[in-house]
Amino acid sequence: MLLKACHLSLLFLVGASFGANASDDFMWGVANSAFQVEGNPGASDWTRWTKTQGKIHDASNADRATDFWNRYEEDFDMAATLGVESFRISVAWERIEPAPGRWDEDALDHYEKMIEAMRKRGLEPIVTLHHFVLPTWIADRGGLEFKEFPRYFTRYALKVVSRLSARPARVKWWMTFNESMGQVAAGYLSPLWPPGVFDTTRATQAAANLIRAHIYSTLALRNLKGGQGLRIGLAHNWRPFYAASKFSLADRVIAGQAESIYNKNYLDSVSTGKIKVGFPGARAVREKIKIPKDVKLLDYVGINYYGRYMIQMIFKSPFVRLFEGPGPKTDMGWEIFPQGLYPVLKKAYARYKLPILISENGIADEKDSRRTDFIEKHVREIHRARSEGVPVIGYLYWSLTDNFEWAEGLKPRFGLVEIDYKTQARLPRPSFYAFSKLLRSRPQGKMSSHNAQN
Ligand code: FCB
Repeated sequence: MLLKACHLSLLFLVGASFGANASDDFMWGVANSAFQVEGNPGASDWTRWTKTQGKIHDASNADRATDFWNRYEEDFDMAATLGVESFRISVAWERIEPAPGRWDEDALDHYEKMIEAMRKRGLEPIVTLHHFVLPTWIADRGGLEFKEFPRYFTRYALKVVSRLSARPARVKWWMTFNESMGQVAAGYLSPLWPPGVFDTTRATQAAANLIRAHIYSTLALRNLKGGQGLRIGLAHNWRPFYAASKFSLADRVIAGQAESIYNKNYLDSVSTGKIKVGFPGARAVREKIKIPKDVKLLDYVGINYYGRYMIQMIFKSPFVRLFEGPGPKTDMGWEIFPQGLYPVLKKAYARYKLPILISENGIADEKDSRRTDFIEKHVREIHRARSEGVPVIGYLYWSLTDNFEWAEGLKPRFGLVEIDYKTQARLPRPSFYAFSKLLRSRPQGKMSSHNAQN
């Protein structure tokens, strides 16, 4: 109890420091993604993967998930009660375009209604176009490696954005892709996610295609009426690499290389149009896409921050070992490492000079004994970076409710709100109220300037 009271007062402190100078340029929010919450998924690679024996650790699937497709109003009510002012969702490509060139207008209508329901509650929508899941028809043509992937993605992006950036939805904040490098690593350098292969050449092709798709689609979106006014970004999982031993030159060198391959080259490519991507052992892709001078490929960088990787050079294939650091762990087994966030923010701003949105940060914590402290510690790191001039424009907690956590299934509990999967009842956890106190301690009555501009 004492511990709880102590956390709470710390939250007030952090809240107050934000409140003093940042209430009108900082978006607090929560994030989720279509497949993980909607239920009744369309024909996709992940729908199939969850039905393949042995792929999901707890043998669950996303058939019902949290039934967000039908219960979104209840969740937006809770977000409004929590006190956030933005809500990040993703739209499901496999619903919107179930076969090549066949558009399901009902699905688009449904998303439009969902966004209107957000707006009614004062929630600013942030919409991700692709969050890991591919329609089966793309997956069967080669998925991310399919030569036409960037072109098909661009056509889909144009369709969705023209509809949802217009009235009544008026979505302004877009993310093309979520964690492209994470998706490639989990699907092409591990058996965990589809397609579940270990092949650095295929991984390189897939990553290059995801980068092309961001660039082509952004160029096309800028040409839409009002396209220059959209806020286009993407979410990158910036997990910094730390040498397993500071005293080992080999570990330090390899940490630097991993940092370049995974973080620097990727963000350089998507922000400049000069593509440079390559995993060890594969021929690198270098390509230059011409970007007109006045066109920005990114208005902001979304960073999903969950911790760091320790990296060590070893003397047998694949010659590197990645592991978690020694600190306390979440239910996912991920090290809790808030102090890694500040250097990431400083680095990202020094290199890209763009506003930064923390597009995800969260903890699987079924007992809810660490969540409040976790949020508070990360928010402090953000505050530290902001006080030194790094323009962090928002913080989105992952996630409002528990949801389907990919290969781990329904077991990990990331929610501020517990889901009882038998009844779909929503039960706010103590951390929900603690986070809400922080949010409510800001000066009232001011919406962020991002909302006001709409
Ligand atoms: C991120 C993903 C998100 C969720 C969280 C826990 O890497 O973007 O979908 O699974 O991890």
